[in-house]
Amino acid sequence: MLVCENVSKVFTSGFLSKITVKAVDDVSFTVREGEIISLVGQSGSGKTTLGRMILRLLPPTSGRILFYGRDIWKDIKKREELKDYWRQVHAIFQNPMGSFNPFYKIDRVLDQALELLEIEPKSEEGKELKAKALEAVDLNPDEILGKYPHQLSGGQLQRIMIARSWILKPKLLIADEAVSMLDVSTRGKIMEIFNEFRNKLGSSIIFISHDIGLSYFISDRLFIMYKGKIVERGTPQEVIDNPKEDYTRLLIESVPTIYRRWEDFEEV
Ligand SMILES: Nc1ncnc2c1ncn2[C@@H]1O[C@H](COP(=O)(O)OP(=O)(O)OP(=O)(O)O)[C@@H](O)[C@H]1O
Ligand SMILES: [Mg+2]
Repeated sequence: MLVCENVSKVFTSGFLSKITVKAVDDVSFTVREGEIISLVGQSGSGKTTLGRMILRLLPPTSGRILFYGRDIWKDIKKREELKDYWRQVHAIFQNPMGSFNPFYKIDRVLDQALELLEIEPKSEEGKELKAKALEAVDLNPDEILGKYPHQLSGGQLQRIMIARSWILKPKLLIADEAVSMLDVSTRGKIMEIFNEFRNKLGSSIIFISHDIGLSYFISDRLFIMYKGKIVERGTPQEVIDNPKEDYTRLLIESVPTIYRRWEDFEEV
């Protein structure tokens, strides 16, 4: 479904002397249909930058990204083609506030999703879909609809973005720290929705997280990013059993929950 071939992104900044940051450095990987992969790595390792390039928001400095064989930066140019791409590839971003325009009621992000599907938001079908989507992420439509972003919590905004994906049912979902603000029980529900996307719709998910413990449970394959590079890849079990890099070892040690959960399980 998705192929990233030697993708790099260099940011240049600085006024007098140029400073360059290799945010993503020669990254190659594939995502198959119905596969959940995780990108795990410390802050600043390039995860979001990679996600934004795949979403076709940020052009790579070099390398290619192919979606069903088409180069998303060369072959997708027209407005209609782009709209079609964004119907199929959807992201839930790290900072939920950033996905909302403070001047508009939150209904707008759901209405826009309906419009992408050519469903009139004010129609019965549109209203029903909106309500169902909010209920799927454990929100009460009566409490949520009609509010402005500043009237809701970060976790509620995150869930509205997940409700938006629920409406769009994308082929590929990029979930960038999408559950970071949620409490454990809500997080469990959202993880179930992600699993449902895969099982019922055959969607693929790129799950971006700091939490190797969570990734361990959800993903088919796990990629560890470090300073813009993928330094480790394999099934979660392979990566955790045989960490090649010291960095991965540190990451595993910092999440005792991976093993603690199994111990809890055995006690029961
Ligand atoms: N628009 C930009 N201009 C300049 N530098 C940028 C830009 N966006 C990201 N960077 C830099 O690129 C690097 C990778 O950033 P990125 O946001 O991809 O990391 P991340 O792995 O998502 O981190 P986090 O876990 O904190 O979200 C960082 O050094 C960051 O400062
Ligand atoms: Mg990020």
